[in-house]
Amino acid sequence: MICCLSDLPAITTLILALYIAQSLQLKHSTKTAYLDSFNKEQIDYINNNQNYKLENCSAEQIFIFLRHGSRYPNSKYVHKTSDFLDKVRQLRANQKKSANLTYSAAIDDVIVTFDDKPSHGLSELGALEMQQIALRFKKRFPNLFSRENALDSIDIVSSDRDRCIDSGRNFVFGLFGKNSELSNLLINKFVINNTLIRYFDQCHQYIEKIKNKKNSLPNLANFMNGPEMIKLLEEFKSRNRIQELDFRTKILITIFGLCGIEHAHRMKTNWCKLFEGDSELEILSYYSDLKDFWIKSYGNELNYQIVQYLYQDLFANFDLSLKNDSKKKKVLLRFGHAENIIPLLSVLNLFRDPYQLTHDKFSQVKDRYFKTAVMSPFASNLAFVLHKCNNTIEPFRIKILVNEMPLEMLHTGRVECSFESKSECSYSKFSSMLKNFLEIDLDTNCAVRNLENEL
Ligand SMILES: *[C@@H]1O[C@H](CO)[C@@H](O)[C@H](O)[C@H]1NC(C)=O
Ligand SMILES: *[C@@H]1O[C@H](CO)[C@@H](O)[C@H](O)[C@H]1NC(C)=O
Ligand SMILES: *[C@@H]1O[C@H](CO)[C@@H](O)[C@H](O)[C@H]1NC(C)=O
Ligand SMILES: *[C@@H]1O[C@H](CO)[C@@H](O)[C@H](O)[C@H]1NC(C)=O
Ligand SMILES: *[C@@H]1O[C@H](CO)[C@@H](O)[C@H](O)[C@H]1NC(C)=O
Repeated sequence: MICCLSDLPAITTLILALYIAQSLQLKHSTKTAYLDSFNKEQIDYINNNQNYKLENCSAEQIFIFLRHGSRYPNSKYVHKTSDFLDKVRQLRANQKKSANLTYSAAIDDVIVTFDDKPSHGLSELGALEMQQIALRFKKRFPNLFSRENALDSIDIVSSDRDRCIDSGRNFVFGLFGKNSELSNLLINKFVINNTLIRYFDQCHQYIEKIKNKKNSLPNLANFMNGPEMIKLLEEFKSRNRIQELDFRTKILITIFGLCGIEHAHRMKTNWCKLFEGDSELEILSYYSDLKDFWIKSYGNELNYQIVQYLYQDLFANFDLSLKNDSKKKKVLLRFGHAENIIPLLSVLNLFRDPYQLTHDKFSQVKDRYFKTAVMSPFASNLAFVLHKCNNTIEPFRIKILVNEMPLEMLHTGRVECSFESKSECSYSKFSSMLKNFLEIDLDTNCAVRNLENEL
């Protein structure tokens, strides 16, 4: 559950720090704070409601998928890094005892952080991210998010994880006020559905062939033991005078994750100071992107087939609108994970480079589309807005917004359903674009097959 939102001055400072961030903070992959993934022009864009009007059209329905907001790390991070620090302290004691050497390196000042926080929980920053996103959507589409009939017209489904449920709660607070009667009634109507949101935990073929095998996937293993990571590890050890310690590149990934979360929360530099500038963070970000490419995206079709239920959900609801069915909802909100948002974008072929990300491409693909800091920072979201237009041939149009922006504002590539615009198309073209995807037999693809037959 979220903690106190009482510390207002600190929060205001935090938000200001986020808004005035001068340079883009794209070095922390999926541990990037939401607003850190925006440049100044993009911040201005999302704050101007005029940008969201389609001429001669009215917004009829909106489906928004949101990743939970900024969160605290899980306890594994805290345990692994405190074990690591114990080993460092032990080594220092030995160095002193055996050779009378007293070293002092950056690592000697590092402290264990987050051990007092709820593991995995949504942080105050995450709560604010959600409230602000909600408020902006409400201002853009006042007719969809009106108080009137809100209980009947807003439909909310979440994964069962606290950080997702709390994200939903805070989104509602942003719409209708914290702890208002309407907010509380709406929150009581939340539906938890892990089959819809966490199908990545239920698809056996995905779990056995991809998720559980991630450390041995060739591109990941090769990059972990490749020249960039080995050099980084050696320099890291030598700077910190811990050459004697036996640990592998994996600990750097853990430290990188914590560094990202600390950075997102504007904490005093702690784990991040162990890395030398941006170039090391770029290597670690590449590993993180590479991993998500192979386990959540284009590296394997099943990675994104597992969000088929979410697209079925979207179409089922849009069809109710098209038919003017009395059961239609105006707003569909779905709260989940990076394991959803990256596949959802992949189904649309967004952020897709004309090449695969591989272990040996680090230095050649710095300008790639596939950057998880942009695709799936904390609170990242993908919205589909159904419009009804005064155009008798194709009255229904879909507009796609990634992190509140049309694709024109991002380095993403375009959707295939339209030539005139990068992120807008008629409903019929949109649905034919996804027809094949919706027809995939997911149950069969998820059933565990005899692996030998496949090789
Ligand atoms: C569509 O056209 C009708 C009739 O001209 C007009 O009343 C209505 O406001 C228009 N709707 C939009 C969204 O422009
Ligand atoms: C909107 O409707 C008006 C009046 O029918 C028309 O003149 C105008 O071209 C339309 N705009 C677009 C973008 O279709
Ligand atoms: C350890 O080094 C310090 C200063 O470098 C010195 O004063 C001390 O005597 C040394 N102790 C031993 C046991 O050599
Ligand atoms: C959960 O989602 C799945 C997939 O969309 C659906 O079949 C099921 O009926 C839903 N369950 C509930 C309780 O809403
Ligand atoms: C949609 O249905 C409602 C009643 O449920 C009706 O009042 C409204 O006129 C219908 N709209 C259209 C465009 O048919």
